Amino acid sequence: MIRANYSAVSEFVLLGLSNSWEIQVFIFFFTCLFYVSSLTGNFIIVVTVTSDPYLHSPMYFLLANLSVIDLIFCSIAAPKMICDLFRKQKVISFGGCISQIFFSHAVGGTEMVLLIAMAFDRYVAICKPLRYLTIMSPRMCLLILVAAWIIGLIHSSAQLAFVINLPFCGPNILDSFYCDIPRLVKLACTDTYKLELMITANSGFISLIAFFLLIISYVFLLTTVQKQSSGCSSKALSTLLAHITVVVLFFGPLIFFYVCPSPSTHVDKFLAIFDAVLTPFLNPIIYTLRNRDMKIAIRKVFCQCLAFRKSM
Ligand SMILES: *[C@@H]1O[C@H](CO)[C@@H](O)[C@H](O)[C@H]1NC(C)=O
Repeated sequence: MIRANYSAVSEFVLLGLSNSWEIQVFIFFFTCLFYVSSLTGNFIIVVTVTSDPYLHSPMYFLLANLSVIDLIFCSIAAPKMICDLFRKQKVISFGGCISQIFFSHAVGGTEMVLLIAMAFDRYVAICKPLRYLTIMSPRMCLLILVAAWIIGLIHSSAQLAFVINLPFCGPNILDSFYCDIPRLVKLACTDTYKLELMITANSGFISLIAFFLLIISYVFLLTTVQKQSSGCSSKALSTLLAHITVVVLFFGPLIFFYVCPSPSTHVDKFLAIFDAVLTPFLNPIIYTLRNRDMKIAIRKVFCQCLAFRKSM
């Protein structure tokens, strides 16, 4: 309400990805397929972990929480993008744009903290196995979760505080399929150089630092696991490799966006699709296909469902 005083823009026009009909049809099917698969896959993980007492351990609780986050994350931009794909004029209101930014950063920040917590969880399990259940107590898990959401919300609010009071006075065309901060800031009628630096620092460097910390800790864990010649080390190894894959898939596009933004190319638009629907889809695939316990548990849940329906 306050900003209406000096800003004339009440909605933004999204250019989408491409004007070519074939590419749009391709993107439509691609996005629908992966969006629906993300929803299904993550939903199955949440149901399996909550219903199978065998999976009631800190690692699986964190994994299920990651799936909840993925469910929210892929629903921020993808549904609107799918609905808009064949519209001539794709518009988004100022409020819609701001809330897309707010939720994607809040959820993204939370996911980042959760990925770090999952690395910590593996560190305790591998390096301090005897004290695992005392360190990763239910209280600790809850604490981690609350901290993750608070950090996500703070990060997102800090990011928006820079943007919300910018004067938008005319140009309102966003060359993207959803609102992202780097492109939005470029539309403001003021010198945004410092602001862009601040945003790069807030999103880019934080993710860069978190990424390197995670990679270093996983390399450390990998070497530790390799040195221990216990029977379960190949299982630990495959869990670690799954975690590392997810970390790379999550941070890769982020770092590309915020550390070296180059809005003139189309690469980052395709990467944005990747981030919006493909990463949330890949998480369940990576965690379940590589994990025997998870596969067994999913089968059990399915059998129970079938038995339940037969007995009705
Ligand atoms: C998220 O983690 C908390 C704390 O460990 C756990 O109680 C809860 O069941 C998890 N959420 C899901 C959906 O599994």
